[in-house]
Order: sequence, then C-alpha cells, then structure tokens
Amino acid sequence: MPITKPKGTYDVLPTDSWKWNRLEVVIKKVCRLYNFKEIRTPIFESSELFHRTVGETSDMVTKETYDFLDRGGRSITLRPEGTAGVARSYIENKLYAEGNVQKLFYMGPIFRYERPQKGRTRQFSQFGVEALGSSSPLMDVEVIAFSVTALKALGLKGIKVRINSIGDEESRAKYREALVEYFSQYEEELCGDCKNRLAKNPLRILDCKVDNNKEFFQNAPKISDYLNEVSQNHFKQVLNALDEMNIKYEINPNLVRGLDYYCHTVFELEADIEGFGAQNVVGGGGRYDKLIGDLGGPQTPCVGMAFGVDRLLIAMESEGLLKNNNEYIHCYLIGLGEKARVVGERLLYTLRLGGLICDADYLNKGLKGQFKQADRFNAKFTAILGDTELENFVINIKNNETDEQETIPMNDLYKYIINYLQSKTASPCSTCSKKEGE
Ligand code: HAM
Repeated sequence: MPITKPKGTYDVLPTDSWKWNRLEVVIKKVCRLYNFKEIRTPIFESSELFHRTVGETSDMVTKETYDFLDRGGRSITLRPEGTAGVARSYIENKLYAEGNVQKLFYMGPIFRYERPQKGRTRQFSQFGVEALGSSSPLMDVEVIAFSVTALKALGLKGIKVRINSIGDEESRAKYREALVEYFSQYEEELCGDCKNRLAKNPLRILDCKVDNNKEFFQNAPKISDYLNEVSQNHFKQVLNALDEMNIKYEINPNLVRGLDYYCHTVFELEADIEGFGAQNVVGGGGRYDKLIGDLGGPQTPCVGMAFGVDRLLIAMESEGLLKNNNEYIHCYLIGLGEKARVVGERLLYTLRLGGLICDADYLNKGLKGQFKQADRFNAKFTAILGDTELENFVINIKNNETDEQETIPMNDLYKYIINYLQSKTASPCSTCSKKEGE
C-alpha cells in the first residue's frame, strides 16, 4: 500500500504553487507599504508557551494542539498560531530595547487538530502582522487598514470587517460576572463545552458554534454596556479613524475571538462568498496588551492579525482571480544531437548567470516534441542548435512572440535576447518580477 498524506493535510502541486507565490508577493509588497519587517520563528515551541498565551481554557490549547515529547523528554507543541512565538522571540531577543514599535510580519505553517473540511485543515498557512510597543488606537487602525489594503491588493471584493471591543481587564471582569449570572439561568440548555466555559471562561460561550442559535443567546448581556471610560474611549478612537479613512465595518457585539490574550479591539475579516459555508473568516486579530508582560517581558501593548492563506486562496479562486498563470521562460534550447546538447547546456549556463530563465529537453525528445515543450513552458525564445550551426558557431533563434526567426553568432545569444527584452520593457529582472508578481 502506498503511503498517503496525513488526514487534514494537502500537497501544493506545481500546477498550483504559483498561486501561493503570487499571493505571497502581493501581501509582502503591502507589508513594505506599511513598513512591517519579516520575522521567522520556529514552527515548534515549548508547549508551555501556548498554555500561557493562547489560554488553558481555549479550544485551541485543550483540544487542537499537536503535542509530543521530543527525544530529550521536553514537551513540544507544533505552533497552533503565530503570535505566541513572535512574543517569545520579542522578549528573548530584547527587541523592546530599541525603544521603537516593532512592526513585524510572518508567514508559515500552523497546526491545529480540527475536523477537516473545505477551508479547515490540520496544517494550514497564516500570514500575520504584529505591532509591538504602542497602545495608540491608531496602531489598531493601522493593522486593520493593512488587512483591508492586502485584501484590495489581492483583488478580493465582498469582504466585511467585523469589529468589537472586549475592553480592558476591569471592564471584562464586570462583564464576566454579568455573563455568569445570565447564563446560569440557562445552564441546563448549554452544550457540554459551554457548561465548562461558564465556570472557567464565560466570554468564550459567546463564541460557541453549537449554542449561538438558541433564543436566550440573543438577549445575553452585551460587552458594550460594561466598557469603562478608558475602554470606551479607545474603541471610539478606533472607530472614528476608520470612519475618517472610509473603511467600512460592522460592530458585532458577540465577537470575542477564540484566544485568551485579547483586550480592547478585536476584529475579523469575513468573505461574502457563496458556497463558502462556515469557513468564511479569512483573517482575524486584535489587541493584546498583557501578553508580553505575562510571559515575563516588559509591559508592552501590542496589536496584530493573521490571515488564513488557504482561505484567501479559496476566496480568490471563487472570485476568478487565479485564472492566469503568467509563468514563462526566456529561452528554451533545442539541441539536435549529442554534441549540440552539451554545447547547449553551456550556453544555457551563461544565459542563466546573466539572469535569464531557461530550460531544455532531457528526455531525448525529437524536434517536434521539443517545440511542444517550449510552448508548454511559454518560452519567449526558442534557440535551435544542430550540427550545421555548431560547425559555423551560429545558433538559430525564434522569437515566439513575433514568430521571426534568424541565425546569429552563437556568442551573441545572450545579448540578442537581452536587447529584445530591453526594447520591450526595462531590464529582464524587472520583466520577471512584474509578470510573476502580478
Ligand atoms: P485565528 O483567528 O485563530 O487568529 O486565525 C487566523 C486565521 O487563520 C483565521 O481567520 C482563518 O482564516 C485561519 N484558520 C484558522 N484555523 C484554520 C484551519 N484549521 N484551516 C485553515 N485556516 C484556518 C490567530 O491565529 C491569531 N494569532 C491572530 C492574531 C495575530 N491576533 C493577533 N495577532
């Protein structure tokens, strides 16, 4: 029996990997616009990190982590999200010592042991940003604006920003009391998980996918009635700035998010796409002012968000934004005969050193087969080298855009292609980055 991939995982095949690359290029450009710099942290961390950050009562830590003991007996967890690792690294590498706001981004695999379905897998990818060191409401706005800009840059429409404030600790303590009092009346009707949440983390009840359609849910106390002045002010300033920027949002008083570290602003980005089902949240984030302090670092107010890359791609696919793969090569070299193939390999080596994308045949195909392959690779030029050309130190070159064909000195091949590319645009490099990144 051949070995198959683990449940809840998938392979990104060469026919699809260009979509991932394109998305990555676009979002990284938006990171540049906002001056977020890349950080790369391990995909596994000590288990304790996630218990202390994401929360002992969150579904993510209690039910969804991939935990194992390594060969040295250490308890290790595959990261179920990216923020905790960034926070750990910020403290460990004393990034706070610079005295500036650290605006960071990351992309990579995330692991959650969830029930797989469309848009929900056990290994998926997040693209996230974290701004560490500012308590300004405008920092929250910057992160939301980044998310909206990224979605626009990807060409996605029909995205809704849902926003809420879960206030500071004082406000949440009062709200928690009110929720316990309210939901205790309906304890019998709550699902098993929510019965537990009632004692441990009543806010999480609002996030319940089982209970949230029940009638008593609609009349539950709203956090907005429990926000103290500081929290109200923070939220007001966030909303005012979003209004000023004409960024549309919907306030959702039941939005609390599934991780324990949040305070004040929380938000999610929802794709309004038919057939997308429950997995239509393409990103989410919020403020987390206590996390760095709780992990032993200096008190550092932070705000961040993460996109689910897989879901963004599903959304782009449904909006028809991933139809054209513009990948191409500059030159496909057809070698006729053994000697021509060897000399051809040398020519390609030179072209590649000069930055041209090239390929050739390594299956001893005939002339027709090689022309077909050049077509498949979307080659701008096909260079043909046979015995006659070898004898005369020339090469036959066909421009596949104009269908013009001519024979040129072999050593002029690079110059010939470059001159043509430069006559059409700027340098070959800007040609590739433009076409591949579009
Ligand atoms: P999160 O909402 O748990 O937030 O995840 C962010 C995004 O990851 C979700 O909106 C969703 O698009 C995607 N996602 C979550 N689970 C899956 C899954 N099983 N399969 C596919 N996609 C999934 C966080 O992780 C926070 N760390 C975000 C953040 C950054 N908050 C502050 N800074």
